[in-house]
Amino acid sequence: MGVRIVGTGSYVPEKILTNLDLQNMVDTSDEWIKVRTGIVERHIAPPEMSSGDMASIAAKRALELAGLEGSDISVVVVATTTPDHTFPNTASAVQRNIGADNAFGFDLSAACSGMIYSLELAYSLLMQQKKYRYVLLCGAEKLSCITNWNDRNTCVLFGDGAGAVILGRCDDDDSGQIASDLHLDGNYSEILQLPAGGSRNPTSHETVDKGMHYIHMLGKETFKLAVNAMAGACRNVLSESGVNAADVKLVIPHQANKRIIEAVAQRIDVSTEQVFVNVHKYGNTSAASISICLDEAFRSGQLQKGDIVLLVAFGSGLTWGAQLLRV
Ligand code: UT7
Repeated sequence: MGVRIVGTGSYVPEKILTNLDLQNMVDTSDEWIKVRTGIVERHIAPPEMSSGDMASIAAKRALELAGLEGSDISVVVVATTTPDHTFPNTASAVQRNIGADNAFGFDLSAACSGMIYSLELAYSLLMQQKKYRYVLLCGAEKLSCITNWNDRNTCVLFGDGAGAVILGRCDDDDSGQIASDLHLDGNYSEILQLPAGGSRNPTSHETVDKGMHYIHMLGKETFKLAVNAMAGACRNVLSESGVNAADVKLVIPHQANKRIIEAVAQRIDVSTEQVFVNVHKYGNTSAASISICLDEAFRSGQLQKGDIVLLVAFGSGLTWGAQLLRV
């Protein structure tokens, strides 16, 4: 018995914000953004659209591809840093919108590593609990609503969107998780955070005046930690499993910065053709990025049944990890 990805879906809002648009908003340039990050444009959700709305569209597309109904889903997980509400969870909005009447579910908070963490749960649940047939994992973010559009250090980086992955048990023994390596380190929590709005600093006039409801990031520090952590996690899953880097069909890294992706690829010795990149189209969509990539990779035929894929991410927490899967 194995566990297999039976469907994927994704959604990005229609509105595109280009680097040229940003040139008119803050002191930046198309050239700087492209050279330093690889980002050319990103998608921005309209005011009335939430992370849960985007996740629901992505989930419906994944269900359609899998040939399943909402009622076939046993568990709904939504990885997000921009939930619709503090409570109820965003998973309940997705459950309602897709008619997942037989599911339980919850949100998962692991910032950009959300899909890597969610996959660990999904594979473990499906391998150990026969009563769960299909698990729906969504990664969804409306980062535009926590972005300070006057801060050029951060506003050029982020975008909105959602992806969905459905996993199910299958007869094929080969499909499944080959190895995983997950980490959490709270010693660097201040380098990338949303300072206010939680119980540490509840929202007040003062927190809003100080812009504490926006993403705060020390970019350079985050960059260095990300490269080392992501390369380390990749090396760990490869050495634990005995799989050669050359046998990995596709490496799907979290899409934060093209330079981070290239540095990781170089350190683990994979070719450019093996690395999936779409950061130029969407910017950093945090928890959504890996599931959007997976959907594009499956639908374009770059990933096919039986392929080995290496997923790797790094985010606020710090959270990071890698998943080596046979899909
Ligand atoms: O998703 C999870 C994790 N997130 C990440 O992994 C992001 C990690 N960090 C990064 O991707 C990069 O550090 C950034 C893209 C955020 C910044 O790139 P950098 O090469 O580290 O630039 P920097 O912060 O060292 O800034 C270099 C210069 C500075 O000017 P001075 O001090 O050299 O005069 C900045 O003020 O670039 C300036 N700068 C900009 N210039 C034009 C910073 N942002 C901009 C901008 N446009 N948007």
